[in-house]
Amino acid sequence: MQAETITFHQPLTDNIPEPTLFPELSDIMSKFSIPVIPYDSKFRVFWNVFIVLSILAATIIFSYRMVHGEDKTDFIYVLFTVIFSLDIFVNLNLSVKKKLDVISDRPTIIKTYLRSWFIFDFLAAFPFPIFIGLFRPETLHNPVVANILASFWFFRLLKLTKASGTFREIQTALNINPGVMRLSVFAFWFIQMVHFIALGWIMIGAVEQNRSHMDQYIRALYWTVTTVATIGYGDYYPNHEKNVEIIFTIVAQIFGVGMYGYIIGNVSGLIANLDVAKANFLKKLEEVNDYMRTKSVPAPLQQKVRNYYNYLWETQKSAATGSVMEELPYTLAMEISLFMNRGILEKVSLFRNANDIFIREITQLLKPMVFLPNDYIIRQGEFGDCMYFLSVGDVEVVVNNNIVAHLGTGSPFGETALIQGEKRTASIRAVSYCDVYKLEKSDFDVLRSKYPEFDTQVKQVAEANMRDTQAKTKQPKE
Ligand code: CMP
Repeated sequence: MQAETITFHQPLTDNIPEPTLFPELSDIMSKFSIPVIPYDSKFRVFWNVFIVLSILAATIIFSYRMVHGEDKTDFIYVLFTVIFSLDIFVNLNLSVKKKLDVISDRPTIIKTYLRSWFIFDFLAAFPFPIFIGLFRPETLHNPVVANILASFWFFRLLKLTKASGTFREIQTALNINPGVMRLSVFAFWFIQMVHFIALGWIMIGAVEQNRSHMDQYIRALYWTVTTVATIGYGDYYPNHEKNVEIIFTIVAQIFGVGMYGYIIGNVSGLIANLDVAKANFLKKLEEVNDYMRTKSVPAPLQQKVRNYYNYLWETQKSAATGSVMEELPYTLAMEISLFMNRGILEKVSLFRNANDIFIREITQLLKPMVFLPNDYIIRQGEFGDCMYFLSVGDVEVVVNNNIVAHLGTGSPFGETALIQGEKRTASIRAVSYCDVYKLEKSDFDVLRSKYPEFDTQVKQVAEANMRDTQAKTKQPKE
């Protein structure tokens, strides 16, 4: 009988007919063995950051030139032509994400790009003045052509439309604090807005025309910043005889007030939340302190609780354990607990030669706990319902008020009572702060029945402990 294969998820590329648009382009790239850049490559992030900075510089430089009618095709012009052309080239070779699927097949990449951003990128990159100068230099003297050409400078600003998307990509690719990212996006748009308001101020002729272009720009910027920041020194102000200047100033002031509100409302919150974990921790500590104060908990105990939270912060950079993990899907939570427990898994000799399946299973069952110095983790004579693995710290084994042993990192304890079904044979007292992992009796029993090697090993540990205790507590014969 032939096995039937069921495909649940068709690869995206299967559904797309062969591209009819520029198939040659794809062939050329392949011929020169130019690789397709993977979606999660470092280069993609680097390029995105570089392009955002280039867009910032280009929009500022070219809009400045447009306003001053400086249509020169100098080094800077050529430089941005090269950068923007390279961007087109990179985009033709860059894997893209369509909904949840990553497209890495070149014809589809090219097709997707040509149908989306290509036209904007092309208009922004193409050196129209140089091109016309090369092929039809005589038309440059025609005032109509010159005017059309001048408006072509506007295309260089088209890249600005891409900035938001690029910021989003940088944010998902890099593990940047969302607060820092929002501040960067805010700074980007703030610089652009201030720049364009300054240019507007120049365009309506509000700055002295007899000055150089740079002088005019600097003074316009000065006016913009003092107006937008609602400082308004009053040394540069609208001509009271010119309505357009007064109206422009009103608009800038309204914009400034809005901006100011945004800054007060958001930026202070953003900065405060730069370290969300720390902020949460401090909030938690405040809550706990408040609770203890209202319940009149004695001062030394309050201090002990505070020390505990500080310890949690120092070791785990969190005030609460578990809450995040509970929200995660099972497989992700498993990966994280494997990662977090890898320390203990390596240290405990019982686990050292264990196979992967056992490790994965026990990782799911271990529960982290913290004990403070002098805390009793186990009390002699009680019934045992769990055992422990010491991850960090020191404990002492106390039998009838005598210390019989010290246990350190990686040691298991509390197994004897579970195996024998009897009471605890000793007390275990924390000497320092102790991070331990707890394994419930029911889970312990399941593991023992499923993994005979584990069963043998824990039995050996229990026997060795009992022999040792017997030897140390034997009364010398008189
Ligand atoms: P249990 O009897 O369940 O609880 C106390 C635990 O202390 C015991 O299991 C052992 O794990 C541990 N223990 C008892 N005696 C010794 C010893 N001499 N050396 C190390 N550990 C011990």
